[in-house]
Amino acid sequence: MLTSLFLLSALFSTAWSCPKHDNYQSHPHLGRRQIRVDKGREPKDWNYDVSADWATINPEYVLCQSGTHQSPINIAQQDLSTLHKPNFEGYQSVKIPGNFFNWQFAPAWTPHHPEGDVTGLPSFNFDGEEVFNIGWHIHAPSEHLIDGKRSRAEIHMVHVTAEEHEAAVIGIRLAVGPQESAFIKQLGPMIHYNDTAQLEGLEVNLRLAIDEVGGVEEFWTYKGSLTTPPCSEGLRWFLPKQELIVSEQQMVEILAASRFSHRVEQPVWLHDINL
Ligand SMILES: *[C@@H]1O[C@H](CO)[C@@H](O)[C@H](O)[C@H]1NC(C)=O
Ligand SMILES: [Zn+2]
Repeated sequence: MLTSLFLLSALFSTAWSCPKHDNYQSHPHLGRRQIRVDKGREPKDWNYDVSADWATINPEYVLCQSGTHQSPINIAQQDLSTLHKPNFEGYQSVKIPGNFFNWQFAPAWTPHHPEGDVTGLPSFNFDGEEVFNIGWHIHAPSEHLIDGKRSRAEIHMVHVTAEEHEAAVIGIRLAVGPQESAFIKQLGPMIHYNDTAQLEGLEVNLRLAIDEVGGVEEFWTYKGSLTTPPCSEGLRWFLPKQELIVSEQQMVEILAASRFSHRVEQPVWLHDINL
């Protein structure tokens, strides 16, 4: 859904400056906070029932079938990466406003930023490149497998270069544990996959997610792709070893707002895992 996030952020950039607030409606969970119908929820011509065969839907999806380093994959090796180490000094621990919605499959959020300028957003460095967070979305269950094991859900933190090219995704797996997640808690009530409501200006501290997986000190990394059509390649994936721990209630709320949204596992080929 990386491309649709892109489209969304483009739409939002123009929408914010527009004083017209049509499409506002009440929402059972969002109370009196402002909402509007998410224009990014345009119909998709693909779904997860046929994720092994997306290339047959549209000629533009050919890489979903013919790509050499498609995502997601199973990480079968225990060794962690010592290369491509991400530096999170630029990932400020501050709340920034954004739009909270559901991308038709699970909760998602995109930060506000001036149109054409992402450089004020939280960023990290790897391999001499700075990449900026342009939002996150959830998949349920997780897309990546570790030693064949699938987690209940996975957050994709999507990062682009200053020129807004998709460059890196941090795939954070979610698991139930003894404590609440402060990152999830700040979101408040989840928005259901059938709900077109969009909460504008929800403030989120993205750094909490990084901190809650041990600062991504221990991770696997590989060269991969978007996990949704058109399955474009050339992205670096970072998979923290630590799962993000949420409470039982938080997990139930996330799952209740989500629907089945993992692409079938892709064969490992030119992914250069940890290389
Ligand atoms: C979601 O929307 C679809 C299509 O309108 C409908 O068939 C389905 O029952 C809805 N699901 C829930 C849980 O509301
Ligand atoms: Zn994703």
